[in-house]
Amino acid sequence: MVAAKVTPADLRAMKSRGELIPSLTAYDYPLAKLLDEAGIPLILVGDSLGMVVLGYPDTTHVTMAEMEHHVRAVARARPRALLAADLPYHSYENPRSALENSQRLVAAGAEAVKAEGGRSILEQVRAIVGAGIPFLGHLGMLPQSVLEEGGYHIKGRQDAERAALLADAKALEEAGAFGIVLELVTPPVAREISQSISIPTIGIGSGPDCDGQILVTPDLVGGFPWFTPKFVKPRIHTGDDIRAAVAEWSQTLLKPKSSP
Ligand code: KIV
Repeated sequence: MVAAKVTPADLRAMKSRGELIPSLTAYDYPLAKLLDEAGIPLILVGDSLGMVVLGYPDTTHVTMAEMEHHVRAVARARPRALLAADLPYHSYENPRSALENSQRLVAAGAEAVKAEGGRSILEQVRAIVGAGIPFLGHLGMLPQSVLEEGGYHIKGRQDAERAALLADAKALEEAGAFGIVLELVTPPVAREISQSISIPTIGIGSGPDCDGQILVTPDLVGGFPWFTPKFVKPRIHTGDDIRAAVAEWSQTLLKPKSSP
């Protein structure tokens, strides 16, 4: 593990040393501080905040203003981790808007940005990287496409899908991405992609053979107990603990006062 501020180059070096990259999402100051104190090298202000913090049904409702608000809160923790942030839905439809919105996230405190897609967004990736902003790719199941795709489906089962994923991963690497999140990609295809490119892959629900793993932190700690993805085993159950603590505290208030 590196000692100083983590950079994209450090994450690439971790891949070349065969060191796994544990990554998690944060949406506010205390969570970012806790993840950083635990030594997580890559923190993502994910647009999953739409569901796990803001109560939207999916990520397509998240706005730039909401992303900026949460990036500012996380950045105030001044993490040693590399701080990446999602470009939200419809914020990177062309190279100009992709660059402008990336610059807004950087002004809010992000050190890297992430967007969903491969060859379909290469011009946007080139504009972002060309301006000196580190870019993290996202392939496989793309949550911002949930409405078009009619749900969250595993990717890589058909030959054509496998070939498209590999071509997208190579194109993102060539365009200058420093890493790629692989979401719900079949484990053999995730392994093949990881072995085919020199930048790190960060898997989520894509098997054990990616160069790193990322989770939505509330899934890991039971902080959003109404839904947990099948591939996550919560390590603690903060939702249950909060309910129990609140119920126990309320009960203490109901106890009759002892007479003087
Ligand atoms: O929005 C998010 O939290 C993400 C992770 C699932 C990788 O993109």
